[in-house]
Amino acid sequence: MSTGAYAAAYEQSITDSTTFWGQAAKAVEWITEPTTVLDDTNPPFYRWFRGGTLNTCFNALDRHVRDGRGDQAALIYDSPVTGVVETFTYAELLERVATFAGALASLGVDKGDRVVIYMPMVPEAVVAMLACARLGAIHSVVFGGFAPAELAARIEDAQPTVIVAASCGIEPSRVVEYKPMLDAALDRSSHTPESVIVLQREQAEASVGERDTDWEELDWHELVADAEPADCVEVEATDPLYVLYTSGTTGRPKGIVRDNGGHAVALRWSMENVYDVGPGDVWFTASDVGWVVGHSYIVYAPLLTGATTVLYEGKPVGTPDASAFWRVIGDHGVKAMFTAPTAYRAIKREDPTGSLMAGHDLSSLQTLFLAGERLDPDTYEWASSVLGVPVVDNWWQTETGWPIAANLRGLEPMPIKAGSPSVRVPGYDVQVLDDAGQPMPPGHEGAIAIRLPLPPGTLPTLWQDDERYIAGYLSVYDGYYLTGDGGMIDEDGYLYVMGRTDDVLNVAGHRLSTGSIEAALAGHPAVAECAVIGVADDFKGQVPRGLVVLKGGIDAAGADGERIRRELVQRVRDEVGAVASLKQVDIVAGLPKTRSGKILRKTMRELADGKTPTVPGTIEDVSVLDALGPVLRPGA
Ligand code: COA
Ligand code: AMP
Repeated sequence: MSTGAYAAAYEQSITDSTTFWGQAAKAVEWITEPTTVLDDTNPPFYRWFRGGTLNTCFNALDRHVRDGRGDQAALIYDSPVTGVVETFTYAELLERVATFAGALASLGVDKGDRVVIYMPMVPEAVVAMLACARLGAIHSVVFGGFAPAELAARIEDAQPTVIVAASCGIEPSRVVEYKPMLDAALDRSSHTPESVIVLQREQAEASVGERDTDWEELDWHELVADAEPADCVEVEATDPLYVLYTSGTTGRPKGIVRDNGGHAVALRWSMENVYDVGPGDVWFTASDVGWVVGHSYIVYAPLLTGATTVLYEGKPVGTPDASAFWRVIGDHGVKAMFTAPTAYRAIKREDPTGSLMAGHDLSSLQTLFLAGERLDPDTYEWASSVLGVPVVDNWWQTETGWPIAANLRGLEPMPIKAGSPSVRVPGYDVQVLDDAGQPMPPGHEGAIAIRLPLPPGTLPTLWQDDERYIAGYLSVYDGYYLTGDGGMIDEDGYLYVMGRTDDVLNVAGHRLSTGSIEAALAGHPAVAECAVIGVADDFKGQVPRGLVVLKGGIDAAGADGERIRRELVQRVRDEVGAVASLKQVDIVAGLPKTRSGKILRKTMRELADGKTPTVPGTIEDVSVLDALGPVLRPGA
């Protein structure tokens, strides 16, 4: 469809990636210029900007202050749940970051050390991330909605020197105390950090230093009061900036590694070319710093660009109502907003006519970007009609860190097709493949894969696990990265992403693992075996459903069954977190399996979604599946 800037950029990014990314790298300030744009000497491990050195925090803060943006707003903290709105200029944010970096350094945090950050949407979370970047330390942010089991798995793998936590997060219906969850996670983990820093929030202060622990517990404010600011540490382009754990199908999360150089180049490029946001623009991403969207588009991309980022601690509805986003856009003059489709479904459900927009000045808004889950045509149409601005879907994953497919509003806006995140972003050689690894003709569905090398900013590997990186992503199709999504490309080159082909769940834009939820269910003493499937849901896109087989001798039909179902729902909240949204657990007589014992989750999912289930020839006992029909689709 493009004959202009997009077509030329895409072509060059694939056929001459060195020139393309070498040019993009000029937007980043290097300490030493890279000697090699793409190091492809050790496939399938590709490294970008080899030989280059830089500091990401310098590029996000210091350089803007040096170049005259010191008085410009860098971050606007807007928190309807606490009633606080506070603006931090670039100079102020730099001062806080340098001081906190000094505090971390005083605790022995050095280049390459890991720091786990378990915090809600408060400015200190951003300060802690950038302070790590300043020191060349590797942050690993854990989403505040995760409970001890998930947190413990991440601490165990990342082996942090320091953990930075807040005393609590604030949900509309309750205050969520973080410290007891952190204590429980540390009790489970074999790894002991040297220090735990706690940011006390008045909504629920934590007990700090009151337990007998092997690590020291420190108060954030007391620590920074005595700290000396730290300078930026020079790191290699290929050194890790952060590790962000994401859900696979097993209970063991995958540590996605992000490097410094490729990340800075790619995010800077994406802000201008995909999102059409430049220095001085106000940008609002309603997500959470615990997810990749938060890492990339609340923190790093807007700050690397010299834009103003809005850090919103609230929900699309209920804080106080469905006008929350309109107020933020109007109050801060937001040029472009980014969130997940589910947030707009929440608003639509409460205020279908958009009547609550009245009284808010939305004239600054030029574009709404949506990602994190499939943008269904209904939500697309509704958001487009109430806002009257382009609504732009973009598809990507934690692994890639920035969009794989998008309508590139800065480079060359193209017609939007409902249901499609538009075209392949420069750098990504996306192909739809059949089982044999052959490209499918236009309009035919298959596995979406990306030909190697992946562009800058994407994962170079998994944290300390090259083998798992290869086994999990590169082993199905030789020379390709497997996205785990299925879909197709149409005659115009537009991509359609239909959903995961594996058992990864996507609940209200949150990526969750079937394995973690199953582990929580299996830990109940009455459970013999269990399976979790993600079923289609009008509001959250998908919700998990649990199916459990009880140990012998338990009267599932009576009071015991009811109690066990309640306990199982609670167990998942306590272990994985309320965010798993598991509300329904059914006690069943058996689970359908292949003869080799593999549980047929996909078959059950298809049955629950009202599709014709794919029943493999290797099924052990088809009557088990037949018996599940009335459970999974009552009344069908
Ligand atoms: N800390 C603690 N608990 C959290 C949490 C957090 N950070 N985030 C969510 N939860 C809890 C919620 O309070 C809720 O608890 P409940 O079962 O007691 O009510 C539960 O987890 C489920 O949360 P959620 O799935 O978010 O549902 P919701 O009804 O509270 O809110 C939306 C629905 C659409 C408003 C919300 O999911 C949303 O804003 N989604 C945007 C998605 C997003 O940001 N995705 C990131 C990628 S872009
Ligand atoms: P996460 O790693 O949490 O960002 O989740 C990535 C997964 O979310 C992808 O593999 C997709 O399954 C889904 N996803 C994200 N964005 C989109 C989108 N725009 N369209 C369809 N699916 C999406």
